[in-house]
Amino acid sequence: MKAVIIKKYGDLGGSILKTGIEIPRPSQHEVLIKVKAAGVNRPDILQRQGLYKVPSDASPIMGLEVAGEIVEAGEDVTKTKIGKQVCALVPGGGYAQYVLTNEAHCLPVPRGLSMEKAAGLCECLFTVWINVVKLGQLKENERFLVHGGSSGIGMFAIQVAKQLGATVLTTVKNQEKSDFCYSLGADEVVQYSKKDFYNIFKSNNEGRGIDLILDMIGGDYFEKNIDLLNQEGRLVNIAFLKGNSVKLDLSKLMMKRINLTGSTLRPRTTEFKSKIADELRETVWPLLDTNKIRVHIDSVFPLEKFKDAHMRMENGNHLGKIILSLD
Ligand SMILES: NC(=O)c1ccc[n+]([C@@H]2O[C@H](COP(=O)([O-])OP(=O)(O)OC[C@H]3O[C@@H](n4cnc5c(N)ncnc54)[C@H](OP(=O)(O)O)[C@@H]3O)[C@@H](O)[C@H]2O)c1
Repeated sequence: MKAVIIKKYGDLGGSILKTGIEIPRPSQHEVLIKVKAAGVNRPDILQRQGLYKVPSDASPIMGLEVAGEIVEAGEDVTKTKIGKQVCALVPGGGYAQYVLTNEAHCLPVPRGLSMEKAAGLCECLFTVWINVVKLGQLKENERFLVHGGSSGIGMFAIQVAKQLGATVLTTVKNQEKSDFCYSLGADEVVQYSKKDFYNIFKSNNEGRGIDLILDMIGGDYFEKNIDLLNQEGRLVNIAFLKGNSVKLDLSKLMMKRINLTGSTLRPRTTEFKSKIADELRETVWPLLDTNKIRVHIDSVFPLEKFKDAHMRMENGNHLGKIILSLD
């Protein structure tokens, strides 16, 4: 099969599309998926750059989510699954013609969705569910802020939070991204290149602060996040694009009883991911089936053009998901 191999960590010159790679074989609860499309995520960029530690039991090939057809099943998987079209969270290996994953990490392709759209669901929706619903405990009528609202993660965070009945605030770089977030249902969008989000959210909120913040930025956003949070507020970090070293005034944490947490999806156990898959199947997949939550595809590149896809993400002008197509 062909797959994208990282020969040398760093810039795109160190990664190549290689042919003649052996197709992996499923064991026990694994299924082999013939990949039709694979989602591109920022963690792939970090992995390519050598900045993301790959779990020792995961494929070294990039790619955390796919859509495709199950073509082979391990001995403990019911064979009726063969031939099924699925979208799946994969532990790596998605930038390839075939990939393995646990059968429990496969979800049905939502009604009416193309394989390209289905390929862009799992990594972000698993992450949003874990961090907004499980860790963040977002509730109806609460005020929720997600930074980077036009990202893959942001696009789903806005929509899931609206479905939960929250008021959704977000930050973006420019007007196009702002329009995009409003079209997804955001209630208030701040263009951070024009205005300080802290001042806007502090002055516009009629005495109401923010109950939950999902942050991928870190750095100098941290103190502003802490100051914006209400009593019993929660700050959940899933990345730190502006740096992982921050200054914390413990008295603010104590006075407001703030809950500070975060997580990474990839190293979590098979059992944990299976539980999240079950919850998403029950709650979010019906909303995808009925178009109440939608996925916006920014661009689709053939696997051969994976470098263009990475450049598009690194340039940071995309809206929603970037997808690799295999046909
Ligand atoms: N912890 C986990 O389990 C987990 C899982 C998946 C993803 N993530 C993280 O979540 C974040 C979003 O992932 P994604 O795949 O949705 O990526 P993405 O689409 O590329 O989103 C990154 C967003 O960050 C914003 N941004 C702000 N400052 C930035 C900076 N200095 N450099 C680059 N971007 C900046 C960009 O929006 P503006 O242009 O509007 O600033 C962009 O929309 C990434 O940091 C990723 O590593 C974490």
